[in-house]
Amino acid sequence: MAEVTNVTEYQAIAKEKLPKMVYDYYASGAEDQWTLAENRNAFSRILFRPRILIDVSKIDMTTTVLGFKISMPIMIAPSAMQKMAHPDGEYATARAASAAGTIMTLSSWATSSVEEVASTGPGIRFFQLYVYKDRNVVAQLVRRAERAGFKAIALTVDTPRLGRREADIKNRFVLPPYLTLKNFEGLDLGKMDEAQDSGLASYVAGQIDRTLSWKDVKWLQTITSLPILVKGVMTAEDTRLAVQNGAAGIIVSNHGARQLDYVSSTIMVLEEVVKAAQGRVPVFLDGGVRRGTDVFKALALGAAGIFIGRPVVFSLAADGEAGVKKVLQMLRDEFELTMALNGCRSLSEITRNHIMTEWDASQALAVPSRL
Ligand code: FNR
Repeated sequence: MAEVTNVTEYQAIAKEKLPKMVYDYYASGAEDQWTLAENRNAFSRILFRPRILIDVSKIDMTTTVLGFKISMPIMIAPSAMQKMAHPDGEYATARAASAAGTIMTLSSWATSSVEEVASTGPGIRFFQLYVYKDRNVVAQLVRRAERAGFKAIALTVDTPRLGRREADIKNRFVLPPYLTLKNFEGLDLGKMDEAQDSGLASYVAGQIDRTLSWKDVKWLQTITSLPILVKGVMTAEDTRLAVQNGAAGIIVSNHGARQLDYVSSTIMVLEEVVKAAQGRVPVFLDGGVRRGTDVFKALALGAAGIFIGRPVVFSLAADGEAGVKKVLQMLRDEFELTMALNGCRSLSEITRNHIMTEWDASQALAVPSRL
């Protein structure tokens, strides 16, 4: 196997190695997959305005997220069912994140439980929550995540129903019977039945609460003292509501383009959300981040950090823990180089003036006054 030199290369390796049903589940977006392509394409329409002749012999990428110091603003998004990619699944991801000094978010639908992931050793971890119709299930799970030392809840708010992923429908996607949604095993909700379409879509329709609303964000705060990140915000309006309803942070996300197709790319709406947040809560982004340059662009538009989804499952499939470690290392190295070549020595030196977007170009006459 030729040396892997960038994050994207793991996708083709994963495609070779994985059963079609599994690969398609990881790779797919919703419907026409327009947003899936746009999540990537939009980054390529943002260009740099590098500053020169700055001593960049020392670069500091460290940052603080919800009070926790991490080595870089690159974190791991929750992605479900990682043992389909590799027998070590979420254990490998947890170890790789911890070794890299960054945060892993564990999915509600992990194939390893919160306790099992905690047992891999120290590390700063967040727990992603899907709200089930049965609120006792939710309350128990949140309590277990707290006890297992998870530091925040990422509440996913873009999934009242599952997006239509046509490959999963064609493949009759279902969690392989030798695996379970480990967090729900004892609650009798750990198995996924085969269905006439996507087994996951049926599971969601049966178990996930479509009535979820802002009052439930309040309710969640009555059952946990953990900070709540609202994951799936795409507008200024919802940013203001999230802040009003007690969110500790916002994750701009379109669920990796797996939910509503023809929603904007996340990088295109980031600035709108950052402005609406008015510095009251940190704003994070996920969706299509594959290069250190993408990380820099997100930070220049005001993100406090980014999360990666698919690169984790693809590298896990290719090479287990070593693969995930390599993904984090490659992104780190690329980001460091991007900072150096833009003349930035710390995250606080990354500014809006280091990039130029298409919407700046369309207001070209206004640019000089902005500088
Ligand atoms: C996801 N995502 C997701 N989000 C979530 O809140 N709970 C989950 O269980 C999952 N599961 C999941 C599985 C797979 C295979 C993928 C690809 C994605 C969405 C994820 O957290 C994140 O928003 C996106 O993956 C980010 O986009 P990229 O980095 O994959 O382009």
